[in-house]
Amino acid sequence: MIITIDGPAGSGKSTAARKLAARLGVPYLDTGAMYRVVTLAALRRRVDLHDDAGLAEIARGDDWDLDPGPTHIRATLHGDDVTEEIRSMYVADHTRFIAASPSVRAVLVARQREIGARLGSMVTEGRDQGSVAFPNADVKFYLDAAIDKRAERRFHELLAEGEEVSMADVLRNLAERDESDSRRAVAPLRRPDGAIDVDTTQLSIHEVVDRMAAEVERVALLPSGASTEARES
Ligand code: C5P
Repeated sequence: MIITIDGPAGSGKSTAARKLAARLGVPYLDTGAMYRVVTLAALRRRVDLHDDAGLAEIARGDDWDLDPGPTHIRATLHGDDVTEEIRSMYVADHTRFIAASPSVRAVLVARQREIGARLGSMVTEGRDQGSVAFPNADVKFYLDAAIDKRAERRFHELLAEGEEVSMADVLRNLAERDESDSRRAVAPLRRPDGAIDVDTTQLSIHEVVDRMAAEVERVALLPSGASTEARES
């Protein structure tokens, strides 16, 4: 069973994906981590961030890897663990160039589909999982929340990771990413057809996961093939 979760930064996707996957006993895939690790690799190699072919070469290369597990995701670059480094504001400030590269997106979507085929069942989250990577997913969710709430969550996460950031920096970064994620020419962030909307502004993470798990259970109990009609009805 493939379950997709899409939505803007700070909507609670990553935590929801991790907890939902743990509850269902399947791996989760954080596709934002793929864009982040390619961003870090490009920055380290000082590749021109507008050079589509140069960026694609990095995305295709075998010097980065992601290990999707039930409760964690580990990112490595040249064998070094960069799981924490890819969460920094420095990386977040540059992901939009990598996310706008059509060739990088093609490479990463192909890699996501390979992982999905290999694992059989997973929860995968990002900006284009239900719309582009897995349009025939069994269950699709679209998470969103008010920008102030999203910025507040991201701010507390960054502080907990020891970053010295201001709330104003986080708001600016989110607004920039919202803008470029929804306006870019390839795979812009949009609500996938047939997705179940979850507004997380006023919900705790437990409420979000309970709601999602109930939907997954409902779809799993439907006769095969009936899930799409049920979502669209
Ligand atoms: O979800 P996260 O904030 O880690 O994603 C980092 C960046 O990667 C996003 O701002 C977005 O530009 C990009 N991204 C994307 N498509 C995905 C996942 C992430 O364009 N499926």
